[in-house]
Amino acid sequence: MAKNQIADISWKESGVPVAAQFGDPYFSLEDGLAETRHVFLGGNDLSARLASGFHIAELGFGTGLNMLATFLTWQEAGAPNRARFTSFEAFPMTVEDIAKALDAFPEARAVAAPFLSAWGDGARTFDLDGFAVEVIMGDARQTLPAWRGKADAWFLDGFSPAKNPELWGEDLMMQVGAHTVPGGTFATYTAAGFVRRALDAAGFDVERAPGYGRKRHMSRGTLRR
Ligand SMILES: C[S@@+](CC[C@H](N)C(=O)[O-])C[C@H]1O[C@@H](n2cnc3c(N)ncnc32)[C@H](O)[C@@H]1O
Repeated sequence: MAKNQIADISWKESGVPVAAQFGDPYFSLEDGLAETRHVFLGGNDLSARLASGFHIAELGFGTGLNMLATFLTWQEAGAPNRARFTSFEAFPMTVEDIAKALDAFPEARAVAAPFLSAWGDGARTFDLDGFAVEVIMGDARQTLPAWRGKADAWFLDGFSPAKNPELWGEDLMMQVGAHTVPGGTFATYTAAGFVRRALDAAGFDVERAPGYGRKRHMSRGTLRR
């Protein structure tokens, strides 16, 4: 896989971007921001937990919608100091495609300008009013094992496990566990059995929770201490 290969995007009529390479949309066709809030923010109980020094990590940065939704929640939580968001991405989108995708979400778009400006300049580490963002480029199967951080909460947001199995494998889920603080959490929209088993093997107590929209279930879990 070529490093930093640019994402090839096609668009649904509704404005949802689809990765040509994976044949899968970047977020829910129903309402991507509401899905993010339900699955990733709710699944990790972020509004109650976001505190000084809190570190969120994500597999799959895509449009940055999850990051911006987290930024909004961070602001609502009173902008605690030293909050960080680290994401892993192999196929970065162009700033034009990201801006077009975010146009569908006025609330996120309204706070996106500093992010878009940094991204357009080629920055992959930037600061949004004290919310520190880092996007680590390359295949997460190589970059996550080399990462020195540990997250309090993970967003597992690859394309569907059937279409993007590289981002859901046992070894990678083991790495997610190894890069989580004791008592830290993950959330993901999928309830696929092999993903849940891999996360259990990686040390998480895995639970099923109601999914967003038409999805019956999602998964969330807490790292055993
Ligand atoms: C569903 S999208 C993520 C959506 C994103 N969280 C957002 O807020 O827009 C999945 C992302 O995973 C990335 N991806 C797929 N395989 C990967 C890999 N092996 N390593 C790192 N990123 C990968 C894709 O390029 C894509 O951006």
